[in-house]
Amino acid sequence: MTPSEPFLSSVLQDEHSEPPSAGRNHEEQGEQDQGRRTVVEMIGVCRTFPGTPEVHAVRDINLTISEGEYLSIVGPSGSGKSTLLHLLGLLDRPSVGTYLLDGVDVSELSDAKRSELRGERIGFVFQAFHLLQHRSVLENVELSMLYRRIPRRERTKRARDTLDRVGLKHRVEFSPQTLSGGERQRVAIARALAAEPSLLLADEPTGNLDSGNADAVLDVFDKLHGEGLTLAVITHDDDVSTRADRRVRIADGTLTDEVAS
Ligand SMILES: Nc1ncnc2c1ncn2[C@@H]1O[C@H](COP(=O)(O)OP(=O)(O)O)[C@@H](O)[C@H]1O
Ligand SMILES: [Mg+2]
Repeated sequence: MTPSEPFLSSVLQDEHSEPPSAGRNHEEQGEQDQGRRTVVEMIGVCRTFPGTPEVHAVRDINLTISEGEYLSIVGPSGSGKSTLLHLLGLLDRPSVGTYLLDGVDVSELSDAKRSELRGERIGFVFQAFHLLQHRSVLENVELSMLYRRIPRRERTKRARDTLDRVGLKHRVEFSPQTLSGGERQRVAIARALAAEPSLLLADEPTGNLDSGNADAVLDVFDKLHGEGLTLAVITHDDDVSTRADRRVRIADGTLTDEVAS
């Protein structure tokens, strides 16, 4: 499946700016290792697509991601990676099972609430960078905050700060067309981070990059992880997945934990 194009408008430019009413209080939620907050908890999640026969794209997923964790999910084409990413990113609903994001049971929320929560809590990075070619790097990042009632001056400041975090301070006025693939993907990462999400989700983020550019992107993930970001990277590439501090394998829709090498 191609990476999420039908969903892009809702992912990249969410028009809901009201904070969700639920989920601000994490105290009652189960805390885990060393008191680290649980960002993602999936319990018995399945996603079945209708057809003859039915497609069991993901089956009985039990997955916990703690705050600050850098997780990779690795598996071959067709194994259910994108389906799982869509579920994690609130782009799709489980057929069966429970999903708690930041302690909020999102399975039963309305589409509008899920959309609000997605805009607030999830940052997306896809294989294709999806940048606006006729806007500057800075504008591409600023525009992601347009509907969030953030004053213009603050949007500019945040955009500059996040571009600095991904090592692109010197490229803010450039057109994306003049950048390397790795730089473009770092702009997309900055755009995803500008809203300060709880979770950064990346689907094959190095899939369009040569190894040098891929390394530059993975170095940025390392840095962001070091700064405390929670991130989940989905990939078919073992070399990419081993950069994470925890690796989970997906095969035929089923997850298995692995010891990271
Ligand atoms: N919307 C859909 N309708 C029917 N089948 C789907 C749909 N999306 C994905 N699938 C099927 O689910 C399985 C997993 O797909 P996907 O999650 O895209 O795998 P991956 O990202 O690992 O390549 C595949 O067999 C795919 O054909
Ligand atoms: Mg995929």
